[in-house]
Amino acid sequence: MCGIIGYVGGREATPVLMEGLRRLEYRGYDSAGVCVADAKNELHLLRAVGKLSKLDEKVREDTPKGKVGLGHSRWATHGKPSEDNAHPHTDCTGKLVVIHNGIIENYLELKADLQAAGHQFRSETDTEVVAHLIEEGLKPFAGGRATPDLKEPMLFEAVRKAFLKVRGAYAIAILWAETPGMLIAVKTASPLVVGLGEGESFLASDVPAFLEHTRKAVFLEDGEMAILKKDGVSFFKLSGGKVEKKPQTIAWDRAMAEKAGYRHFMLKEIHEQPQTVADTLRGRLYPLKAGSLAPETGLTSEVLSKADRIELLACGTAHHAGLIGKYLIEHFAGIPAEAEMASEFRYRDPVLDPNALVVAISQSGETADTLSAVKLAKGRGLRVVSVCNCLGSALSREADFNLYTHCGPEFGVASTKAFTGQLAALAVFAMQLGLSRGKLSEPEARAFVDELVRLPALMRQTLKLDAQVLELAKRYFRVRDFLYIGRHVNYPIALEGALKLKEISYIHAEGYPAGEMKHGPIALIDETMPVVAVATESSVLEKMLSNVEEAKARGAIVIALCTEGEKRLVGRADHILTLPKTHEFLYPILNAVPLQLLAYHIANLLGCDVDQPRNLAKSVTVE
Ligand code: AGP
Repeated sequence: MCGIIGYVGGREATPVLMEGLRRLEYRGYDSAGVCVADAKNELHLLRAVGKLSKLDEKVREDTPKGKVGLGHSRWATHGKPSEDNAHPHTDCTGKLVVIHNGIIENYLELKADLQAAGHQFRSETDTEVVAHLIEEGLKPFAGGRATPDLKEPMLFEAVRKAFLKVRGAYAIAILWAETPGMLIAVKTASPLVVGLGEGESFLASDVPAFLEHTRKAVFLEDGEMAILKKDGVSFFKLSGGKVEKKPQTIAWDRAMAEKAGYRHFMLKEIHEQPQTVADTLRGRLYPLKAGSLAPETGLTSEVLSKADRIELLACGTAHHAGLIGKYLIEHFAGIPAEAEMASEFRYRDPVLDPNALVVAISQSGETADTLSAVKLAKGRGLRVVSVCNCLGSALSREADFNLYTHCGPEFGVASTKAFTGQLAALAVFAMQLGLSRGKLSEPEARAFVDELVRLPALMRQTLKLDAQVLELAKRYFRVRDFLYIGRHVNYPIALEGALKLKEISYIHAEGYPAGEMKHGPIALIDETMPVVAVATESSVLEKMLSNVEEAKARGAIVIALCTEGEKRLVGRADHILTLPKTHEFLYPILNAVPLQLLAYHIANLLGCDVDQPRNLAKSVTVE
């Protein structure tokens, strides 16, 4: 989730770009850069790794002059944080620059073709491929054969043709030194908004970047392009043809705009999940064959087929993801998997199978217990796969293989989008394990992928439960104890739902395997304790229905999650939240959503600091 900003107008571009990047810092950054074209058609490019202040230092020393430019703050997805990998990226000529937010799925094959055509690459990023693709499209006009008035349509066509070859998610902006009066923007699956000023135009990932200059905005749709000039912006379809776009007036103040109008980052991040799950799955489902993750992660079919046991190490919410990963791996790959709290693993004297593969899960990649557990395992000769949200983090540097979640920065201390991103990544990993070990047939894998592809839409549908969940929160936010129960792959969801509630509302909540109720917890139940039963469709649904009966017979208030079409909870549960159908092993990704919303609304009604709950830190870097 990078931050992009572009400007063309009557003012010096650099101050506008730098202020815009500061306004987008909440989108995360590990490096940044700006590029400005001067009146002599020369480009001035500055980039710096680290905080925006590092770029600021360079800009102050040598301020690029010019009235058109691009700026970018990077949240790395492909290629470690470094100056070479920082945007903007240039083509071979150095006269065309590109900035990008998103993921180019087919960048490796495009890069190979371009290298075969003689293009030299300077970075590890997917983005740089776009600059060289456009350069290829301009070659027929190279050598100054084009008159100035032809250069703009040339660039437009070269960009349009380049994007007919690109697959993935992109909000891209392009500046060519030969056409310094204009910027081109292209959008598919990543946000891109245009700001319409007086005698100046802006483009950005998000409105805070230019809100102080104009409140007139046009949000591009997928497959649209824009040509920005100081006297106005025109819009086109990638497939060709002009598009009329109606500007909107942004009423938000800046703080609201950073949260996209949501009251808290946590709520924004809950609602981002369809996009972040889609981004985490992007480029990892096809081709449907063993080893297809290897080009990105190094996880070849050989590495995966050699693993005869999986150790999942993590803390907190990430540990709950690991528990679900255990079910996925054992089901799809047929090998034993153990999900352990890193804080326990590291102090045990674990007996480890030398052919085990460790999967370390961490949003931040900086959790001390997880890092120590990983180091212990590596010390025993085991190799480590990280499922991490932060490139360049300690865990990603320690791991032998990195399967990143592409969720963008998560600001809410209560982990939400990172959790469902971890589950999506673990689903892909389990499937790859199964294919590599010959346990999962291609038809079975295809059926699973068909369901994975539907997840973002099903999550959007599930988010529509928000109003019903809010009513439940209003009814029960003063309750002092909650019990969450689930079975099988949804038992960890009971743990996760309870953790969400307790960590932001400070209400005591326990998650339990439903089968354990009769071994103690059922003594707790009475009419003052709501029981949240995760009872979506599964091989153990009958058992869950019995557990709901047991709870009701003791006077409990039952809030049940169930699958659309399921009628047997009617008359048994007091409240029913109905979710769309999906694959049994993917329900955790859907079930997490209403439980996140329930925790959020209860905490909000209690006046708790939802984004920064007491006693907690976003990343526990101490033991
Ligand atoms: C979850 O909502 C908490 N913020 C916490 O349990 C968190 O999941 C845990 O500290 C692990 O953090 P990590 O994913 O960054 O390693």
